[in-house]
Amino acid sequence: MQPDTAHGHTTHDAEADARNEHILIYVDGALVPRDRAVVSVYDSGFMLGDGMWEGMRLYDGEWAFFDEHMDRLFNSLRAVSIDIGMGPAEIRGNLDRTAQANGMTGDAHCRLMITRGRKAKPFQHPALSRFGPTIVAIVEHSIPAQSLAQKGVRLATVPQVRGLPTSQDPKFNSHSKLNCVIACLQAEQAGADEALMLDPHGFVNTTNACNFFIVRRGQVWTSTGDHCMNGITRQKVIELCRADGIPVFEKNYSLYEAYGADEAFLTGTFGAQTPVAAIDGKPIGGDGGAGPVTRRIRQLYADLVAANVAEQKARRS
Ligand SMILES: Cc1ncc(COP(=O)(O)O)c(C=O)c1O
Repeated sequence: MQPDTAHGHTTHDAEADARNEHILIYVDGALVPRDRAVVSVYDSGFMLGDGMWEGMRLYDGEWAFFDEHMDRLFNSLRAVSIDIGMGPAEIRGNLDRTAQANGMTGDAHCRLMITRGRKAKPFQHPALSRFGPTIVAIVEHSIPAQSLAQKGVRLATVPQVRGLPTSQDPKFNSHSKLNCVIACLQAEQAGADEALMLDPHGFVNTTNACNFFIVRRGQVWTSTGDHCMNGITRQKVIELCRADGIPVFEKNYSLYEAYGADEAFLTGTFGAQTPVAAIDGKPIGGDGGAGPVTRRIRQLYADLVAANVAEQKARRS
């Protein structure tokens, strides 16, 4: 039975948009109607979670922080020896084509997925992926649900950790998200929206789908970065704080400090900065929504996205 989530929301809830039922999806070079967009049951992504993905957002015809997303993606692909035979420019061309075919110039979110591809036999060895890679891009109309910014998300700490690079480096944006899915289930079954995951030493680390920040006594804290996704939004927030004179620290801290935070927020490409309303049932901040530092950072980030989009436009014209 699915848990009852009617009372809450997830960090990736978007406003309902019926147009998404009829989008065209990029599948290995073709634009295919959603109900016919499929990959093989022999695909390494389906069988093993053997693939990498990126989430990107479209603003005014440009994919925000495209270079940073491509840098992370190609680093990941290289680390697991997947050669896709195309570079960032060709990827951009395919994403642009998909967005244009769907009549999108903004308020759209892309999940670009690349797997090792179709296998000759249903077994694990990567050499069996003889017909790869598989490249899929789902681009949906997407506006984050208003309730996220208004009410914030409720987190629960969970037993599942995001661990050491020696098991599965948490920097891999891999198709296999089982580690995070287990964490999310634990949080949901504890009555929260999403999971707050610790690191192997018990320090506060990340959530199952976003990076995590607290604001304490005018300072912004986040984890060391050793055990979480190298989030692009996370990095931008750190850089924005530094540039704006907001003291920011990447450091070990425990739930003791998190429970006593004045504000807390999540970062990710989809929601930018999403306020945290509670951790383990303890309210954070005043009214569940964003506090003054989170609001300031949200504005700085929105300005940065606009500047990045303008810069990309200028470069391409
Ligand atoms: C586990 C996890 N943490 C954080 C993020 C946020 O990363 P970004 O800011 O690059 O979207 C993601 C998104 O891919 C993620 O899967």
